[in-house]
Amino acid sequence: MDFFSITGGRRLSGKIRAESAKNAILPMMACAVLTKEKVIIRNCPYIKDVLSMKEILEYMGAKVFFSGDGVIIDASDLKRFEVPSFLSKKLRSSIYMLGSVLAVNDKLKISFPGGCDIGARAFDIHLDGLKKLGVDVIEEEGCILCRREKIKGSEITLKYPSVGATENLIICSTLCEGSTVIKNCAKEPEITDLIRFLKKMGAKIYGEGTGVIRIEGVKKLNGVEYTPIGDRIEAGTYILASLISGGEIEISNVLPQNICSLLNYFCNNTCKIRISNDIIYIKKEESFSGLYVSTGPYPDFPTDLQPVITAFCTVADGKSVIRENVFENRFLYAYELKKMGANIKIDNNVAYVSGEKKLYGANLYAKDLRGGAALIVASLTAEGESKIFGTEYIDRGYYNLTEKLSLLGADVKRNYEN
Ligand code: EPZ
Repeated sequence: MDFFSITGGRRLSGKIRAESAKNAILPMMACAVLTKEKVIIRNCPYIKDVLSMKEILEYMGAKVFFSGDGVIIDASDLKRFEVPSFLSKKLRSSIYMLGSVLAVNDKLKISFPGGCDIGARAFDIHLDGLKKLGVDVIEEEGCILCRREKIKGSEITLKYPSVGATENLIICSTLCEGSTVIKNCAKEPEITDLIRFLKKMGAKIYGEGTGVIRIEGVKKLNGVEYTPIGDRIEAGTYILASLISGGEIEISNVLPQNICSLLNYFCNNTCKIRISNDIIYIKKEESFSGLYVSTGPYPDFPTDLQPVITAFCTVADGKSVIRENVFENRFLYAYELKKMGANIKIDNNVAYVSGEKKLYGANLYAKDLRGGAALIVASLTAEGESKIFGTEYIDRGYYNLTEKLSLLGADVKRNYEN
C-alpha cells in the first residue's frame, strides 16, 4: 500500500497556486455530451476523479484527451447510454451523467453512484426533480433506469439545497421544451461557475448565486473553451496547513470571497491577512484559541473543510466545537487523529475538541478524501514521523500534494509499496 510519510515540525511558508476546482470541473466534463462540438476545460488538474470521469465518457464513446494544461472532450458520437457499476461507483460525480445524457438522449441506465463514505449520499432529490422534468425513473438492482419522451420545463422546489441535484437539474433543463424554475437551490461558487460555463455554450440561465434559478430551454449548445474557478477547498486546506505549522502562505488562483467563512476566523490579531482579486496571503502572528464551527450550504462554512479545521483545532489553545450539519458520518478521521494524541470527543454530529500542546506521529489510515487531508495537516505539526495510508482517497482531490507541500518546506515523501 502506498503511503505519505511526513515528519512534522517544519514551518510551511511560500507561494503556491490552487488548481481549478474539482467540484466545478466534474459536472463540466459531464456537460460535454450536451454538444456535438469540442469542450475544452483549461487548467485541469490530473486528479483521480477527473480520470474517472474521463473513463465514463470514453466508455460511452466520447474521445477524451489531455493536451497542455487542459482536457479536451469530443462527445459527438456516443455509442452507449449506460454507465456500469465499475465506473459509476468510482465517484459521486457519475451522477451528473443523468442530467447531461437525458438532456440529449431518451434513455440512460446508470448504476448507483459512488462517493466518499461520509453519509447516506442519497439521490432522491435528483430523481424527484428529473421526474418533474418528464423523466420516467425506475430503480432496480442497484441501477437507475431512465426514459423520457422529451424534457419538459417545470417548476421544482428542492427539499434541501443539494449541490449535485441543483447542478443536475440545471444541466438537464438547458435543452428543455419551455423553461424550468428551480427553487431552494444550492449557491456554491462551483454552481455559479458551472452556470457561467453553460451560458458560454449558449444556455439561457438566470439567477446564478441566488436560491432561484431559471433556465430557458434552447435548441442547441455549442462547444466551449473554459477555465474554471480556483479550488477553494484545496486553497483552504493549504492555508490551514500553513497556519497549523506557524508559517505564512500566499496562494493564488482562489477568490477570497469564496472562502470568507474560513478567513473570518483569522481576521483578528492571530494573523496578518492580505487579499487581492485572486490571491490570499496569510501569516500566523499569535497563538490560536479554540473555534466554534458549524457547517452548512454556501455561504456557511463548507463541510469539505470541516475535517481539516478540526485537525487544526486539535493544537489550538482551549476548546473547540465543530458541528457537521451536511453529512451524517463525516468524523471517521477523528479516530485517526486520536492516535496522534488529539483530544476529541464525538457526540452524534458534533466534535468537542480540547487543544493539546503537541501531537505525535503515528500510522494513519485515510478513509475518505477530506478526512485524508485532515491527517496530512495534523502530521505537519506532529512530533516525529507519520505514515498516512489510503493515498487513493487523497489523490481524488489534491493534485501534486507532495510537490506543493515540499515547495512550502514540509518534510514529506510519497512511498510506493509494490
Ligand atoms: C457535493 O456533493 C460535493 N461533491 C461534495 O464534495 C460536497 O461535500 C457537497 O456537495 C456539499 O457541499 C461534488 O461537487 C462532486 P449534496 P453532493 O447533494 O452533491 C443529502 C468533496 O470532498 N442529499 O449537497 O453529493 C446528502 O445525503 C465532496 O469534494 C439527499 O438527501 O452533496 C447530504 O447529506 C464530498 N438527497 C446532503 O444532502 C439527494 O438527492 C448534501 O448533499 C442529494 C443529497
